[in-house]
Amino acid sequence: MKTPSIALKANAKSAVIDVLNARLADSIDLALITKQAHWNLKGPNFIAVHEMLDPMRAAIDNHVDIIAERISQLDGTPIGTSQRVAKATALDEYPTDIKKVPDHLAALADRFAKLANQIREDIDTTDEAGDADTADILTAFSRELDKDLWFIKSHLE
Ligand SMILES: [Fe+2]
Repeated sequence: MKTPSIALKANAKSAVIDVLNARLADSIDLALITKQAHWNLKGPNFIAVHEMLDPMRAAIDNHVDIIAERISQLDGTPIGTSQRVAKATALDEYPTDIKKVPDHLAALADRFAKLANQIREDIDTTDEAGDADTADILTAFSRELDKDLWFIKSHLE
């Protein structure tokens, strides 16, 4: 028996799955980065920034799960192992030798902005592939990342 599946052309599905797996790797990396900063910050604004990062991490984890499950809904395989994520992420390696709060904020802003701007392109790509649902999932994530970037940048101005 042929089980029903989402009515998108096979090439559209595989294009969307590739986009989602690429962003899954970036997003898992970004989630790890927020904790790396949370643990290593030092300076006068410590507690504000330390506490700001935990809800950001929680929100990213939520979007990571939605992205991964969308890949499965499209009959793809979400790739979330540490080894594959490390190879696939498009984000620059997060420095492990920085301590000062502004240095962490600048490093975070860089990576949040990179992912947010890539996702903006992916919204159009997945929409053009005919997958409005994935475009909607990415739009929700884009809104979250834009808000996070604003929070991060506001400490630097
Ligand atoms: Fe903590």
